[in-house]
Amino acid sequence: MSQHFQHDVLVIGSGAAGLTLALTLPSHLNIVVLSKADLSNGSTYWAQGGVAAVLDDTDTVDSHVEDTLIAGAGLCREDAVRFTVEHSRDAIQWLIDQGVPFTRDDESAREDGGFEFHLTREGGHSHRRIIHAADATGAAIFNTLLEQAKKRPNIQLLEQRVAVDLITERKLGREGQRCLGAYVLNRNNGEVDTCHARFTVLACGGAAKVYLYTSNPDGACGDGIAMAWRAGCRVGNLEFNQFHPTCLYHPQAKSFLITEAVRGEGGLLKLPNGERFMQRFHPRAELAPRDVVARAIDHEMKRLGVDCVYLDISHKPAEFVKSHFPTVYERCLDFGIDITREPIPVVPAAHYTCGGVVVDKHGRTDIPGLYAIGETSFTGLHGANRMASNSLLECFVYARSAAQDMLSQLDQVQMPTDLPTWDASQVTDSDEDVIIAHNWDELRRFMWDYVGIVRTNKRLQRAQHRVRLLLSEIDEFYSNYKVSRDLIELRNLALVAELIINSAMQRRESRGLHYTLDYPDLLPEAHDTILEPPTFGD
Ligand code: FUM
Repeated sequence: MSQHFQHDVLVIGSGAAGLTLALTLPSHLNIVVLSKADLSNGSTYWAQGGVAAVLDDTDTVDSHVEDTLIAGAGLCREDAVRFTVEHSRDAIQWLIDQGVPFTRDDESAREDGGFEFHLTREGGHSHRRIIHAADATGAAIFNTLLEQAKKRPNIQLLEQRVAVDLITERKLGREGQRCLGAYVLNRNNGEVDTCHARFTVLACGGAAKVYLYTSNPDGACGDGIAMAWRAGCRVGNLEFNQFHPTCLYHPQAKSFLITEAVRGEGGLLKLPNGERFMQRFHPRAELAPRDVVARAIDHEMKRLGVDCVYLDISHKPAEFVKSHFPTVYERCLDFGIDITREPIPVVPAAHYTCGGVVVDKHGRTDIPGLYAIGETSFTGLHGANRMASNSLLECFVYARSAAQDMLSQLDQVQMPTDLPTWDASQVTDSDEDVIIAHNWDELRRFMWDYVGIVRTNKRLQRAQHRVRLLLSEIDEFYSNYKVSRDLIELRNLALVAELIINSAMQRRESRGLHYTLDYPDLLPEAHDTILEPPTFGD
Protein backbone atom coordinates (compact mmCIF):
# COMPACT_ATOMS: atom_id res chain seq x y z
CA MET A 1 0.00 0.00 0.00
CA SER A 2 1.33 3.42 -0.86
CA GLN A 3 1.49 5.87 2.04
CA HIS A 4 1.26 9.59 2.75
CA PHE A 5 3.94 11.30 4.87
CA GLN A 6 4.19 14.82 6.21
CA HIS A 7 7.47 16.57 6.99
CA ASP A 8 8.46 20.16 7.52
CA VAL A 9 11.45 19.61 5.27
CA LEU A 10 11.92 16.93 2.63
CA VAL A 11 15.56 16.57 1.61
CA ILE A 12 16.17 14.52 -1.52
CA GLY A 13 19.78 13.34 -1.30
CA SER A 14 21.95 12.30 1.62
CA GLY A 15 25.34 13.77 0.73
CA ALA A 16 27.27 16.73 2.12
CA ALA A 17 24.66 19.31 1.09
CA GLY A 18 21.58 17.41 2.29
CA LEU A 19 23.05 16.38 5.65
CA THR A 20 24.44 19.86 6.31
CA LEU A 21 21.06 21.40 5.69
CA ALA A 22 19.31 18.88 7.94
CA LEU A 23 21.83 19.42 10.74
CA THR A 24 21.64 23.21 10.48
CA LEU A 25 17.87 23.30 10.93
CA PRO A 26 16.58 23.43 14.52
CA SER A 27 15.46 20.27 16.29
CA HIS A 28 11.78 21.27 16.49
CA LEU A 29 11.48 20.74 12.73
CA ASN A 30 10.58 17.35 11.42
CA ILE A 31 13.01 16.51 8.60
CA VAL A 32 13.34 13.52 6.29
CA VAL A 33 16.48 12.80 4.24
CA LEU A 34 16.08 10.36 1.37
CA SER A 35 18.71 8.23 -0.31
CA LYS A 36 18.14 6.30 -3.54
CA ALA A 37 20.24 3.38 -2.33
CA ASP A 38 22.36 3.11 0.80
CA LEU A 39 22.97 6.43 2.52
CA SER A 40 26.65 6.44 1.51
CA ASN A 41 26.02 5.93 -2.19
CA GLY A 42 26.32 9.60 -3.19
CA SER A 43 29.32 11.40 -4.63
CA THR A 44 30.34 12.97 -1.31
CA TYR A 45 31.57 9.67 0.03
CA TRP A 46 33.98 9.31 -2.89
CA ALA A 47 35.47 12.81 -2.76
CA GLN A 48 39.18 12.47 -2.15
CA GLY A 49 40.76 15.94 -2.39
CA GLY A 50 39.17 18.22 0.19
CA VAL A 51 37.49 21.55 0.78
CA ALA A 52 38.96 24.82 -0.50
CA ALA A 53 38.82 27.63 2.06
CA VAL A 54 40.74 30.67 3.21
CA LEU A 55 42.24 29.35 6.41
CA ASP A 56 45.74 30.61 7.03
CA ASP A 57 47.17 34.05 7.45
CA THR A 58 49.13 34.04 4.20
CA ASP A 59 45.97 33.48 2.15
CA THR A 60 43.21 35.99 1.44
CA VAL A 61 39.59 36.03 0.32
CA ASP A 62 40.64 38.13 -2.67
CA SER A 63 43.19 35.55 -3.75
CA HIS A 64 40.71 32.64 -3.53
CA VAL A 65 38.13 34.74 -5.38
CA GLU A 66 40.63 35.65 -8.08
CA ASP A 67 41.76 32.03 -8.62
CA THR A 68 38.12 30.93 -8.89
CA LEU A 69 37.33 33.68 -11.41
CA ILE A 70 40.35 32.77 -13.52
CA ALA A 71 39.46 29.06 -13.54
CA GLY A 72 35.84 29.96 -14.37
CA ALA A 73 36.98 31.59 -17.64
CA GLY A 74 34.95 34.79 -17.36
CA LEU A 75 31.64 33.16 -16.43
CA CYS A 76 31.65 33.06 -12.63
CA ARG A 77 29.23 35.39 -10.91
CA GLU A 78 31.61 37.39 -8.79
CA ASP A 79 29.04 38.05 -6.07
CA ALA A 80 28.39 34.30 -5.72
CA VAL A 81 32.13 33.58 -5.61
CA ARG A 82 32.75 36.22 -2.97
CA PHE A 83 29.74 35.09 -0.93
CA THR A 84 31.01 31.49 -0.96
CA VAL A 85 34.61 32.32 -0.16
CA GLU A 86 33.70 34.81 2.57
CA HIS A 87 31.70 32.08 4.32
CA SER A 88 34.40 29.42 3.87
CA ARG A 89 36.07 29.79 7.26
CA ASP A 90 32.76 29.57 9.16
CA ALA A 91 31.74 26.53 7.16
CA ILE A 92 35.01 24.75 7.97
CA GLN A 93 34.72 25.69 11.63
CA TRP A 94 31.22 24.18 11.65
CA LEU A 95 32.62 20.94 10.19
CA ILE A 96 35.40 20.90 12.77
CA ASP A 97 32.78 21.43 15.49
CA GLN A 98 30.80 18.49 14.13
CA GLY A 99 33.95 16.40 14.61
CA VAL A 100 35.32 15.95 11.08
CA PRO A 101 38.84 14.51 11.52
CA PHE A 102 40.78 16.75 9.14
CA THR A 103 44.48 15.94 8.78
CA ARG A 104 46.57 17.97 11.22
CA ASP A 105 50.01 19.29 10.51
CA ASP A 106 52.06 21.02 13.18
CA GLU A 107 54.86 21.77 10.75
CA SER A 108 52.61 23.56 8.26
CA ALA A 109 51.02 25.40 11.20
CA ARG A 110 54.37 27.00 11.82
CA GLU A 111 55.18 27.65 8.15
CA ASP A 112 51.75 28.74 6.97
CA GLY A 113 50.77 31.22 9.61
CA GLY A 114 49.48 29.21 12.53
CA PHE A 115 46.66 27.09 11.11
CA GLU A 116 46.79 23.68 12.76
CA PHE A 117 45.49 21.59 9.87
CA HIS A 118 47.44 20.48 6.84
CA LEU A 119 46.53 22.37 3.69
CA THR A 120 47.24 20.83 0.33
CA ARG A 121 47.32 22.37 -3.12
CA GLU A 122 45.28 21.58 -6.21
CA GLY A 123 45.03 22.83 -9.79
CA GLY A 124 44.20 26.50 -10.27
CA HIS A 125 44.88 27.47 -6.63
CA SER A 126 47.72 29.92 -6.10
CA HIS A 127 47.90 28.95 -2.39
CA ARG A 128 47.82 25.83 -0.32
CA ARG A 129 44.19 26.08 0.81
CA ILE A 130 42.64 22.62 0.63
CA ILE A 131 41.75 21.24 4.04
CA HIS A 132 41.44 17.47 3.85
CA ALA A 133 41.31 14.17 5.69
CA ALA A 134 44.25 12.40 4.00
CA ASP A 135 42.86 11.39 0.59
CA ALA A 136 39.41 10.33 1.82
CA THR A 137 37.93 13.70 2.77
CA GLY A 138 34.43 12.96 1.50
CA ALA A 139 34.18 9.76 3.52
CA ALA A 140 35.42 11.53 6.67
CA ILE A 141 32.88 14.33 6.24
CA PHE A 142 30.03 12.03 5.32
CA ASN A 143 30.64 9.63 8.23
CA THR A 144 30.82 12.49 10.71
CA LEU A 145 27.68 14.24 9.48
CA LEU A 146 25.78 10.97 9.30
CA GLU A 147 26.75 10.12 12.87
CA GLN A 148 25.49 13.53 13.98
CA ALA A 149 22.25 13.16 12.02
CA LYS A 150 21.60 9.77 13.62
CA LYS A 151 21.74 11.42 17.04
CA ARG A 152 18.96 13.82 16.10
CA PRO A 153 15.48 12.36 16.69
CA ASN A 154 13.92 14.99 14.41
CA ILE A 155 15.90 13.75 11.39
CA GLN A 156 14.60 10.63 9.71
CA LEU A 157 17.06 8.95 7.31
CA LEU A 158 15.41 6.73 4.70
CA GLU A 159 17.29 4.48 2.29
CA GLN A 160 16.08 2.92 -0.97
CA ARG A 161 13.77 5.86 -1.74
CA VAL A 162 13.81 7.27 -5.27
CA ALA A 163 12.05 10.57 -5.90
CA VAL A 164 9.94 10.27 -9.04
CA ASP A 165 8.66 13.81 -9.45
CA LEU A 166 7.90 16.97 -7.53
CA ILE A 167 4.35 17.88 -6.62
CA THR A 168 3.51 21.51 -7.34
CA GLU A 169 0.39 23.63 -7.17
CA ARG A 170 0.65 24.20 -10.91
CA LYS A 171 0.76 20.46 -11.70
CA LEU A 172 -2.30 19.90 -9.54
CA GLY A 173 -4.13 22.70 -11.33
CA ARG A 174 -4.30 24.75 -8.14
CA GLU A 175 -3.80 28.45 -7.74
CA GLY A 176 -0.10 29.32 -7.26
CA GLN A 177 3.33 27.88 -8.05
CA ARG A 178 4.47 26.40 -4.76
CA CYS A 179 6.22 23.05 -4.41
CA LEU A 180 4.23 20.83 -2.04
CA GLY A 181 6.48 17.77 -1.83
CA ALA A 182 7.26 14.79 -4.03
CA TYR A 183 6.21 11.34 -5.14
CA VAL A 184 8.78 8.85 -3.93
CA LEU A 185 9.30 5.22 -4.94
CA ASN A 186 9.94 2.96 -1.97
CA ARG A 187 12.19 0.29 -3.45
CA ASN A 188 11.48 -2.03 -0.52
CA ASN A 189 7.89 -2.61 -1.61
CA GLY A 190 7.66 -1.04 -5.08
CA GLU A 191 5.01 1.48 -3.95
CA VAL A 192 5.08 5.20 -4.73
CA ASP A 193 4.46 7.24 -1.58
CA THR A 194 3.21 10.82 -1.39
CA CYS A 195 5.51 13.06 0.66
CA HIS A 196 3.95 16.35 1.78
CA ALA A 197 6.47 19.00 2.80
CA ARG A 198 6.52 22.65 3.68
CA PHE A 199 9.94 22.90 2.03
CA THR A 200 11.52 20.53 -0.48
CA VAL A 201 15.25 20.42 -1.12
CA LEU A 202 16.99 18.94 -4.14
CA ALA A 203 20.41 17.84 -2.95
CA CYS A 204 20.85 14.95 -5.33
CA GLY A 205 24.21 15.67 -6.97
CA GLY A 206 25.07 16.04 -10.62
CA ALA A 207 24.69 14.17 -13.89
CA ALA A 208 28.14 12.80 -14.75
CA LYS A 209 26.58 9.38 -15.29
CA VAL A 210 25.34 10.73 -18.60
CA TYR A 211 28.82 9.85 -19.89
CA LEU A 212 30.16 6.37 -20.47
CA TYR A 213 33.29 6.95 -18.42
CA THR A 214 32.86 8.77 -15.13
CA SER A 215 34.46 9.09 -11.72
CA ASN A 216 30.98 9.29 -10.15
CA PRO A 217 28.96 6.63 -8.37
CA ASP A 218 25.99 5.04 -10.14
CA GLY A 219 23.39 7.45 -8.78
CA ALA A 220 24.73 10.62 -10.46
CA CYS A 221 21.84 10.76 -12.93
CA GLY A 222 20.82 14.42 -12.81
CA ASP A 223 17.63 13.56 -10.90
CA GLY A 224 17.32 16.95 -9.23
CA ILE A 225 17.95 18.86 -12.44
CA ALA A 226 15.39 16.79 -14.35
CA MET A 227 12.73 17.02 -11.63
CA ALA A 228 13.20 20.77 -11.27
CA TRP A 229 12.96 21.28 -15.04
CA ARG A 230 9.78 19.23 -15.28
CA ALA A 231 8.36 21.28 -12.41
CA GLY A 232 9.07 24.55 -14.24
CA CYS A 233 12.51 25.74 -13.05
CA ARG A 234 15.18 27.26 -15.25
CA VAL A 235 18.55 25.54 -15.62
CA GLY A 236 21.87 27.21 -16.36
CA ASN A 237 25.23 26.47 -18.01
CA LEU A 238 24.69 22.75 -18.45
CA GLU A 239 27.18 22.60 -21.32
CA PHE A 240 30.01 22.83 -18.80
CA ASN A 241 30.73 19.23 -17.88
CA GLN A 242 33.99 18.81 -16.09
CA PHE A 243 36.23 15.88 -17.01
CA HIS A 244 38.66 14.95 -14.26
CA PRO A 245 42.04 14.45 -15.90
CA THR A 246 43.15 11.46 -13.88
CA CYS A 247 40.98 8.41 -13.32
CA LEU A 248 42.70 5.08 -12.92
CA TYR A 249 42.92 3.22 -16.23
CA HIS A 250 42.47 -0.47 -15.52
CA PRO A 251 39.91 -2.92 -16.93
CA GLN A 252 38.58 -3.76 -13.46
CA ALA A 253 38.78 -0.32 -11.87
CA LYS A 254 35.34 1.20 -12.22
CA SER A 255 35.27 4.95 -11.59
CA PHE A 256 38.36 5.24 -9.41
CA LEU A 257 39.76 8.75 -9.18
CA ILE A 258 43.40 9.62 -8.60
CA THR A 259 43.04 12.82 -6.63
CA GLU A 260 44.41 16.04 -8.03
CA ALA A 261 46.27 16.44 -4.74
CA VAL A 262 48.74 13.86 -6.11
CA ARG A 263 49.75 16.48 -8.67
CA GLY A 264 49.53 19.14 -5.94
CA GLU A 265 52.16 17.25 -3.98
CA GLY A 266 54.50 16.86 -6.95
CA GLY A 267 53.02 14.12 -9.17
CA LEU A 268 54.07 14.42 -12.82
CA LEU A 269 52.10 13.53 -15.93
CA LYS A 270 54.07 11.49 -18.45
CA LEU A 271 53.66 9.90 -21.85
CA PRO A 272 54.24 6.15 -22.21
CA ASN A 273 57.91 6.87 -23.08
CA GLY A 274 58.37 8.68 -19.74
CA GLU A 275 58.45 12.19 -21.24
CA ARG A 276 56.59 15.02 -19.45
CA PHE A 277 54.20 17.01 -21.61
CA MET A 278 52.09 19.42 -19.53
CA GLN A 279 54.67 22.23 -19.75
CA ARG A 280 53.87 22.38 -23.49
CA PHE A 281 50.25 23.26 -22.69
CA HIS A 282 50.29 25.67 -19.73
CA PRO A 283 52.80 27.59 -17.60
CA ARG A 284 51.43 25.89 -14.47
CA ALA A 285 52.08 22.48 -16.10
CA GLU A 286 50.48 19.69 -14.00
CA LEU A 287 48.70 22.30 -11.87
CA ALA A 288 46.95 24.04 -14.75
CA PRO A 289 43.15 24.30 -14.45
CA ARG A 290 41.39 21.00 -14.96
CA ASP A 291 39.97 21.68 -18.41
CA VAL A 292 43.46 22.40 -19.74
CA VAL A 293 44.93 19.23 -18.23
CA ALA A 294 42.04 17.01 -19.42
CA ARG A 295 42.24 18.42 -22.97
CA ALA A 296 46.02 18.07 -23.04
CA ILE A 297 45.75 14.41 -22.03
CA ASP A 298 42.99 13.80 -24.58
CA HIS A 299 45.13 15.49 -27.26
CA GLU A 300 48.23 13.44 -26.46
CA MET A 301 46.27 10.17 -26.31
CA LYS A 302 44.75 10.86 -29.73
CA ARG A 303 48.04 12.09 -31.22
CA LEU A 304 49.94 9.01 -30.12
CA GLY A 305 47.04 6.54 -30.39
CA VAL A 306 47.58 5.36 -26.81
CA ASP A 307 44.98 4.18 -24.28
CA CYS A 308 46.24 6.23 -21.32
CA VAL A 309 48.98 8.48 -19.99
CA TYR A 310 50.78 8.12 -16.66
CA LEU A 311 50.83 9.98 -13.37
CA ASP A 312 54.08 9.49 -11.53
CA ILE A 313 54.73 10.27 -7.87
CA SER A 314 57.28 7.50 -7.36
CA HIS A 315 60.13 10.05 -7.06
CA LYS A 316 58.74 11.10 -3.64
CA PRO A 317 59.69 9.11 -0.51
CA ALA A 318 57.48 6.02 -0.17
CA GLU A 319 56.42 7.00 3.37
CA PHE A 320 55.28 10.45 2.18
CA VAL A 321 53.20 8.88 -0.59
CA LYS A 322 51.61 6.30 1.69
CA SER A 323 50.76 8.77 4.43
CA HIS A 324 49.31 11.43 2.11
CA PHE A 325 47.49 9.07 -0.22
CA PRO A 326 46.59 5.93 1.70
CA THR A 327 43.38 5.33 -0.25
CA VAL A 328 44.98 5.76 -3.66
CA TYR A 329 47.97 3.65 -2.59
CA GLU A 330 45.82 0.76 -1.34
CA ARG A 331 43.39 0.82 -4.23
CA CYS A 332 46.15 0.87 -6.85
CA LEU A 333 47.93 -1.93 -5.03
CA ASP A 334 44.72 -3.98 -5.31
CA PHE A 335 45.25 -3.74 -9.06
CA GLY A 336 48.94 -4.62 -8.85
CA ILE A 337 50.25 -1.04 -9.16
CA ASP A 338 52.68 0.10 -6.46
CA ILE A 339 52.53 3.89 -6.79
CA THR A 340 55.65 4.34 -4.65
CA ARG A 341 57.63 2.53 -7.35
CA GLU A 342 55.82 2.97 -10.66
CA PRO A 343 53.61 5.44 -12.53
CA ILE A 344 49.82 5.15 -12.49
CA PRO A 345 47.97 4.68 -15.81
CA VAL A 346 45.30 7.41 -16.03
CA VAL A 347 42.60 8.74 -18.39
CA PRO A 348 40.11 11.62 -18.14
CA ALA A 349 36.52 10.82 -17.09
CA ALA A 350 33.33 12.83 -16.52
CA HIS A 351 33.47 14.21 -13.01
CA TYR A 352 31.32 17.23 -12.26
CA THR A 353 28.27 19.09 -13.60
CA CYS A 354 29.10 22.80 -13.33
CA GLY A 355 25.64 23.97 -14.35
CA GLY A 356 22.33 23.04 -12.79
CA VAL A 357 19.09 24.41 -11.41
CA VAL A 358 19.21 28.22 -11.28
CA VAL A 359 19.23 29.39 -7.64
CA ASP A 360 19.92 32.52 -5.63
CA LYS A 361 22.25 32.93 -2.64
CA HIS A 362 19.85 30.97 -0.46
CA GLY A 363 19.52 28.04 -2.83
CA ARG A 364 16.00 29.19 -3.76
CA THR A 365 14.83 27.98 -7.18
CA ASP A 366 12.19 29.62 -9.39
CA ILE A 367 9.49 27.70 -7.52
CA PRO A 368 8.53 28.83 -4.01
CA GLY A 369 9.23 26.18 -1.41
CA LEU A 370 11.76 24.39 -3.63
CA TYR A 371 15.51 24.68 -2.98
CA ALA A 372 18.48 23.22 -4.84
CA ILE A 373 21.89 22.90 -3.22
CA GLY A 374 25.25 21.34 -4.05
CA GLU A 375 25.99 19.93 -7.50
CA THR A 376 22.30 19.98 -8.45
CA SER A 377 22.33 23.77 -8.38
CA PHE A 378 23.71 26.55 -10.53
CA THR A 379 24.83 29.28 -8.16
CA GLY A 380 27.28 31.01 -10.50
CA LEU A 381 30.28 29.93 -8.41
CA HIS A 382 31.94 27.65 -10.95
CA GLY A 383 31.52 29.59 -14.18
CA ALA A 384 32.81 27.71 -17.20
CA ASN A 385 35.14 25.51 -15.17
CA ARG A 386 34.95 24.57 -11.50
CA MET A 387 38.14 24.95 -9.53
CA ALA A 388 39.14 21.88 -7.57
CA SER A 389 37.59 21.49 -4.09
CA ASN A 390 35.26 24.48 -4.45
CA SER A 391 32.33 22.11 -4.80
CA LEU A 392 32.26 20.71 -1.27
CA LEU A 393 32.63 24.27 -0.03
CA GLU A 394 29.59 25.27 -2.08
CA CYS A 395 27.59 22.42 -0.51
CA PHE A 396 28.24 23.66 3.03
CA VAL A 397 27.84 27.38 2.39
CA TYR A 398 24.60 27.11 0.42
CA ALA A 399 23.07 24.40 2.61
CA ARG A 400 23.58 26.63 5.65
CA SER A 401 22.22 29.63 3.81
CA ALA A 402 19.15 27.70 2.59
CA ALA A 403 18.45 26.54 6.15
CA GLN A 404 18.52 30.14 7.39
CA ASP A 405 16.17 31.18 4.61
CA MET A 406 13.64 28.46 5.48
CA LEU A 407 13.70 29.52 9.08
CA SER A 408 12.91 33.08 8.10
CA GLN A 409 9.77 31.87 6.27
CA LEU A 410 8.54 29.20 8.66
CA ASP A 411 5.64 31.20 10.06
CA GLN A 412 4.16 31.88 6.64
CA VAL A 413 4.23 28.34 5.26
CA GLN A 414 1.55 25.75 6.10
CA MET A 415 1.81 21.99 5.69
CA PRO A 416 0.22 21.09 2.32
CA THR A 417 -2.92 19.00 2.53
CA ASP A 418 -5.04 16.84 0.23
CA LEU A 419 -2.32 15.75 -2.14
CA PRO A 420 -3.51 13.06 -4.54
CA THR A 421 -2.11 9.55 -4.24
CA TRP A 422 0.17 8.38 -7.08
CA ASP A 423 -1.97 6.85 -9.81
CA ALA A 424 -0.65 3.46 -10.93
CA SER A 425 -3.97 2.22 -12.29
CA GLN A 426 -2.94 2.52 -15.96
CA VAL A 427 0.44 0.79 -15.80
CA THR A 428 1.61 -2.82 -15.65
CA ASP A 429 4.83 -4.64 -14.78
CA SER A 430 7.39 -4.26 -17.52
CA ASP A 431 8.19 -7.36 -19.56
CA GLU A 432 10.94 -5.66 -21.59
CA ASP A 433 13.56 -4.28 -19.25
CA VAL A 434 16.11 -4.90 -21.98
CA ILE A 435 14.92 -1.62 -23.54
CA ILE A 436 15.98 0.29 -20.43
CA ALA A 437 19.40 -1.36 -20.37
CA HIS A 438 19.92 -0.78 -24.07
CA ASN A 439 18.84 2.87 -24.02
CA TRP A 440 20.93 3.55 -20.95
CA ASP A 441 24.03 2.22 -22.70
CA GLU A 442 23.34 3.93 -26.01
CA LEU A 443 22.78 7.29 -24.33
CA ARG A 444 26.00 7.23 -22.35
CA ARG A 445 28.04 6.10 -25.35
CA PHE A 446 26.87 8.80 -27.77
CA MET A 447 27.20 11.46 -25.08
CA TRP A 448 30.83 10.39 -24.60
CA ASP A 449 31.54 10.31 -28.34
CA TYR A 450 29.60 13.41 -29.44
CA VAL A 451 29.25 15.71 -26.42
CA GLY A 452 32.56 15.00 -24.67
CA ILE A 453 35.83 16.86 -24.18
CA VAL A 454 35.96 18.08 -27.80
CA ARG A 455 32.70 18.93 -29.61
CA THR A 456 31.60 19.97 -33.11
CA ASN A 457 28.28 21.16 -34.54
CA LYS A 458 27.84 17.89 -36.41
CA ARG A 459 28.48 15.76 -33.35
CA LEU A 460 26.01 17.82 -31.32
CA GLN A 461 23.36 17.54 -34.05
CA ARG A 462 23.81 13.76 -34.15
CA ALA A 463 23.49 13.59 -30.38
CA GLN A 464 20.38 15.78 -30.43
CA HIS A 465 18.71 13.57 -33.02
CA ARG A 466 19.45 10.42 -31.05
CA VAL A 467 18.42 11.80 -27.68
CA ARG A 468 15.05 12.88 -29.08
CA LEU A 469 14.39 9.35 -30.33
CA LEU A 470 15.37 7.93 -26.97
CA LEU A 471 13.18 10.41 -25.10
CA SER A 472 10.10 9.43 -27.05
CA GLU A 473 10.76 5.73 -26.45
CA ILE A 474 11.33 6.37 -22.75
CA ASP A 475 8.14 8.43 -22.48
CA GLU A 476 6.14 5.63 -24.00
CA PHE A 477 7.72 3.13 -21.64
CA TYR A 478 7.07 5.41 -18.67
CA SER A 479 3.39 5.78 -19.58
CA ASN A 480 2.83 2.03 -19.82
CA TYR A 481 4.92 0.41 -17.11
CA LYS A 482 5.40 0.67 -13.38
CA VAL A 483 8.30 2.86 -12.31
CA SER A 484 11.56 1.31 -11.18
CA ARG A 485 14.83 2.94 -10.13
CA ASP A 486 16.38 2.18 -13.54
CA LEU A 487 13.48 3.69 -15.44
CA ILE A 488 13.34 6.81 -13.26
CA GLU A 489 17.08 7.34 -13.66
CA LEU A 490 17.06 6.74 -17.39
CA ARG A 491 14.18 9.18 -17.84
CA ASN A 492 16.09 11.81 -15.86
CA LEU A 493 19.42 11.13 -17.54
CA ALA A 494 17.97 11.37 -21.05
CA LEU A 495 16.25 14.66 -20.23
CA VAL A 496 19.42 16.13 -18.74
CA ALA A 497 21.39 14.86 -21.78
CA GLU A 498 19.01 16.80 -24.02
CA LEU A 499 19.45 19.92 -21.87
CA ILE A 500 23.26 19.54 -22.04
CA ILE A 501 23.15 19.17 -25.82
CA ASN A 502 20.79 22.13 -26.25
CA SER A 503 22.98 24.28 -24.02
CA ALA A 504 26.12 23.24 -25.92
CA MET A 505 24.45 24.09 -29.24
CA GLN A 506 23.65 27.57 -28.00
CA ARG A 507 27.26 28.37 -27.12
CA ARG A 508 29.06 29.54 -30.23
CA GLU A 509 32.53 29.83 -28.75
CA SER A 510 35.03 27.73 -26.82
CA ARG A 511 35.14 28.67 -23.18
CA GLY A 512 36.34 26.73 -20.16
CA LEU A 513 35.03 23.19 -20.32
CA HIS A 514 33.07 23.72 -23.52
CA TYR A 515 35.47 23.24 -26.42
CA THR A 516 34.20 23.03 -30.01
CA LEU A 517 36.26 22.77 -33.17
CA ASP A 518 33.66 24.86 -35.03
CA TYR A 519 34.06 27.88 -32.74
CA PRO A 520 37.57 27.58 -31.27
CA ASP A 521 37.73 31.20 -30.10
CA LEU A 522 36.41 33.05 -27.11
CA LEU A 523 33.69 35.63 -27.69
CA PRO A 524 34.49 39.07 -26.24
CA GLU A 525 31.57 38.91 -23.80
CA ALA A 526 30.73 36.03 -21.50
CA HIS A 527 27.07 35.02 -21.19
CA ASP A 528 25.38 32.28 -19.20
CA THR A 529 23.27 29.75 -21.08
CA ILE A 530 19.93 29.83 -19.29
CA LEU A 531 17.21 27.48 -20.54
CA GLU A 532 13.56 28.06 -19.66
CA PRO A 533 11.15 25.12 -19.55
CA PRO A 534 8.04 25.41 -21.73
CA THR A 535 5.96 26.02 -18.61
CA PHE A 536 8.25 28.71 -17.17
CA GLY A 537 6.33 31.67 -15.78
CA ASP A 538 2.87 30.14 -16.42
O1 FUM B 1 41.01 15.43 -7.50
C1 FUM B 1 40.23 15.47 -6.57
O2 FUM B 1 40.49 15.06 -5.44
C2 FUM B 1 38.93 16.07 -6.80
C3 FUM B 1 38.62 17.18 -6.25
C4 FUM B 1 37.42 17.89 -6.72
O3 FUM B 1 36.78 17.41 -7.66
O4 FUM B 1 37.12 18.95 -6.20
